[in-house]
Amino acid sequence: MMMDTEKFINESVEQIKEEVKDEKVIIALSGGVDSSVASVLASKAIGNQLEAIFVDHGLLRKNEAKEVEETFKDRLNFKLIDAQDEFIEALGGITDPEKKREIIGHKFIEVFEREAKKSGAKYLLQGTIAPDWIESEGNIKSHHNLTLPEGLVLEIIEPLRELYKDEVREIGTALGLPDKIVHRQPFPGPGLAVRVLGDITKEKLRICREANAILTKYVEKEGLEKDLWQYFVVLTNSKVTGVKGDQRDFGYLVVIRMVQSFDAMTANVPDIPWSFLHTVSQEITAEVPEITHVSLSLSNKPPSTIEFE
Ligand code: XMP
Repeated sequence: MMMDTEKFINESVEQIKEEVKDEKVIIALSGGVDSSVASVLASKAIGNQLEAIFVDHGLLRKNEAKEVEETFKDRLNFKLIDAQDEFIEALGGITDPEKKREIIGHKFIEVFEREAKKSGAKYLLQGTIAPDWIESEGNIKSHHNLTLPEGLVLEIIEPLRELYKDEVREIGTALGLPDKIVHRQPFPGPGLAVRVLGDITKEKLRICREANAILTKYVEKEGLEKDLWQYFVVLTNSKVTGVKGDQRDFGYLVVIRMVQSFDAMTANVPDIPWSFLHTVSQEITAEVPEITHVSLSLSNKPPSTIEFE
């Protein structure tokens, strides 16, 4: 898709300056392309008036918090908030995916409001893009950054609201963001909470994280990520019978989900070499003893969604 990136950047910078004036702004920086592009755009407009808050909600992938911190600590006014216990506690016993999203969304706002009070920010900048609100309005799934509680004191600014992912990537490249960020696979705001099916525990998160790290390692080793929109491991709520040595074993069933897409509105499962899948499967069951069975998702969107919850 072709767009006039320079025009978009210049107009957004002017709009942000005009709206914000001398006030302070915080942004929910997740390290994904959307919030990264929004951060850089905003800091182009208002520099140090922007504080980029990265919340570790305990639902991140392996080493993710450290990697995001490394990437941004010298680029932006970056602040890491460790809120892991708070989020995991709030999610205790919750199995309904939309309820999970609501809880996480509200917690996010709570944490940001707390930080905003400290910083004196009046505005909350968000990396919301078009599919986020189109799907929310269509009532398919709510997205965390639109589920705002009553009495929200922060005013929301969403400079990427009208853009699709490919356009956001173009803007990111034009803004000089590294490829690693611009082409990073999207990761949902609720994180592993929607990839650990059913109730969330630290133990299940750890298992999902370890298996996902193995898939990621092989995808990157084979250079498959260039052709994939998203690739991840889902930890199901099913325990299945397996065998270890000469003993019956009862462990988790995980699903490998790998999709191609242009804008997440539709997605398809590409041909993946069986040898690759066998390698990943074997390493997952060898390295993560709680998992006894690895399966592969074959469903396109529609009728499936990309995420399992
Ligand atoms: P689905 O599963 O609806 O996902 O086909 C489409 C895209 O959106 C991501 N996704 C989310 N992103 N909050 C987000 O910020 C959410 O609650 C959420 N649910 C799904 C998903 O990873 C995919 O890229």
